[in-house]
Amino acid sequence: MNTILRDGIREFHVRPEKLIQPLFVVEGNGIQEEISSMPGQYRYSVDQLVPHVARLVSLGVDKIMLFGVPHDKDDVGTSAYEEAGIVQRAVAAVKAQLAERVLVITDVCLCEYTSHGHCGVISGGRVDNDRTLPLLAQTALSHVRAGADIVAPSDMMDGRVGAIREALDSEGFETVPIISYAVKYASAFYGPFRDAAESAPQFGDRKSYQMDPANARDAVAEARADIAEGADMVMVKPGLAFMDVISRVRAATDVPLLTYNVSGEYAMVKAAAANGWIDEANIVEETLVSFFRAGCDMVVTYFAEQVAKSYAGV
Ligand code: PBG
Repeated sequence: MNTILRDGIREFHVRPEKLIQPLFVVEGNGIQEEISSMPGQYRYSVDQLVPHVARLVSLGVDKIMLFGVPHDKDDVGTSAYEEAGIVQRAVAAVKAQLAERVLVITDVCLCEYTSHGHCGVISGGRVDNDRTLPLLAQTALSHVRAGADIVAPSDMMDGRVGAIREALDSEGFETVPIISYAVKYASAFYGPFRDAAESAPQFGDRKSYQMDPANARDAVAEARADIAEGADMVMVKPGLAFMDVISRVRAATDVPLLTYNVSGEYAMVKAAAANGWIDEANIVEETLVSFFRAGCDMVVTYFAEQVAKSYAGV
């Protein structure tokens, strides 16, 4: 009886349709390689990615976020906005196969595509915000031309949401939404991602354009600024160490709110579980439900597939 009542009055649920699975796509053919610091996560070549996404969709994970790992990098991130770039080809292939059955979100940033690993172009040893904006706008536009449903800028340059909105509108893509990583901290929790995406900065760090984890007040201002520029949804990243920030942004804004349960959060759970130190399934459930309790509408998480599988009983 108590269980029946508990189920009835439960406030928050983790459901596959609330989760977005990040996926890494690489050049080549026949590739599915595990990322060593993220057990259970793989880099896929386009031909392998498509059947994998089809499997995800059949499990109920019908929202994916694509990250490209290109062959060629240069100082201005040319491969990010090429018409036949890795993400552009991946989007087109996934959409050709699955069309409206999957929602494809693309990460818009230069760090995976620049030889120096920074999220923008460099002038005089520093990231040049304003010279980066047109390149981000071009990247977003090339993703949408390829068929992306939503673009998600994660670079943290000032003014990029406005620049992307304008570029999309100018080509008739007024209805394509922007998810802005409005509140993104300079976090140590991104470590495994930078291995996966080969995007670690080759000099310096990202502290000049990502936020200081010691600050919270800024977060609401950042979110409001991006909404004013045209962001349709905003994201707080990382998630676990920033629950207070999630609930502040929730209280101060009305747009849909997301968080990114990042690579370091995933890797820690996997490492402890592999040692038999924690009950993985319960840790994952508790972690994800806490994001919804804090005020999120959707969560980007490497656990999406695994949660959907347990839901489906497979
Ligand atoms: C930048 C980007 C990063 C992540 C998502 N987009 C890395 C960074 O800012 O260094 C991190 C995601 C994760 O850790 O899972 N393109």
